[in-house]
Amino acid sequence: MEGNIAVGVNMQLTKEEQSIYDGEQGEVLQKAMEILVALGQIYDAEKLIPIKSVQVAGVSYKNLGRPGIEFLEWWVEHGADVKAFSTLNPAGIDLKRWKELGFSEDFSVNQQYIVDLYQKMGIVPTCTCTPYELGNLPKFGDHIGWSESSAVSFANSYIGARTNREGGPSALAAALIGKTPCYGYHLDEERMASSVFIVDAKMTRDSDFGALGVLAGKETKKGIPYFRGLPDMMSYNFKQLGASMAASGSVALYHVDGQTPEARTRNMIAEANEVYAIEDLKDAYAYLNTGSEKIDLVSMGCPHASMEEIMIISQMLKGKSVKVPLWITTSQATACQASSYGYKDVIEGSGAKLITDTCMVVSPIEEFGYDTVATNSAKGCYYMQSWCKVRTRYGGMRQCVDAALTGRWSE
Ligand code: F3S
Repeated sequence: MEGNIAVGVNMQLTKEEQSIYDGEQGEVLQKAMEILVALGQIYDAEKLIPIKSVQVAGVSYKNLGRPGIEFLEWWVEHGADVKAFSTLNPAGIDLKRWKELGFSEDFSVNQQYIVDLYQKMGIVPTCTCTPYELGNLPKFGDHIGWSESSAVSFANSYIGARTNREGGPSALAAALIGKTPCYGYHLDEERMASSVFIVDAKMTRDSDFGALGVLAGKETKKGIPYFRGLPDMMSYNFKQLGASMAASGSVALYHVDGQTPEARTRNMIAEANEVYAIEDLKDAYAYLNTGSEKIDLVSMGCPHASMEEIMIISQMLKGKSVKVPLWITTSQATACQASSYGYKDVIEGSGAKLITDTCMVVSPIEEFGYDTVATNSAKGCYYMQSWCKVRTRYGGMRQCVDAALTGRWSE
């Protein structure tokens, strides 16, 4: 291509990009460009492409610790300022109510500092894994650079936008340059399904989609599943299915026959593919239900609860009182709207809490000493069992609310 300069076997940069790579536009942009070029060379990208938005993960102090803070300080001290519209993943605390909820001062101060560092770089501190609910909403075919696995899956599959599963540093680099290497899910041919799942299992509860995701993610691993036989799905069903497969495998894109946008417009099944029949979901439920009947805490809102989910939960809680703590995690903006519509009063009137900015997985819940946490998130079960050292109970929204009202788990 005219004016382009080769920096690797296949990678070509424009004159402007080459000038950044050579350091003519400062150290920050040079470092960011080096990250993108290295990634592009690893994955055989031919060029960089402009992106519409970025979603940056790597926010919780629990994961970042002191080294993560020092990494972010370097960028801020050197004047980093993002070019692409960028939003932030959940943090480790509710930034407003951390004291009331029992988070330690040391953790909370460090956490707020991390969020401030990101904001100094021009990233909107949404602190949510559902940025598409808050204005970071790409359209079909848009190239984006997102890093939270459940959001990546939702954007690729439900919206039909195009993103690889970025790491925190590569998402930050993409935000600073406004571009990403063109490989993987940015390319038509890389979006074809590698496996077909024929679902004969009855899908009657909202938790069935997360359970299905456990089985499909384990089978297909990094592949792209194509589902046949699923009933008409709500947006939160897609959210749970994708989040679950991102945790049980590394699925970043899936198709649902007749429902997801690419599957509605063209054949999305590759010629060579594996076919699986899902007769029932028993194994998935067994895998996710490791806890006792006595519930210590109920956690909903993973991925972060939408207004629709908050409304449904508030209707279930109306006029009732919870026996064990019930946390419904969402973004500040969504909680603020829920407050205007009266849902927050209903939820908190029952003793449950609408918690913002964080979730059960990225907050330090292991410090609270819970044994069994009930949740409607299969992804939440995966990570709570492994990172947070708690046992889990898994079911639908109705079951989780009942567990909060009674303190017991019932099938
Ligand atoms: Fe979001 Fe936390 Fe679940 S980041 S997807 S609520 S593990």
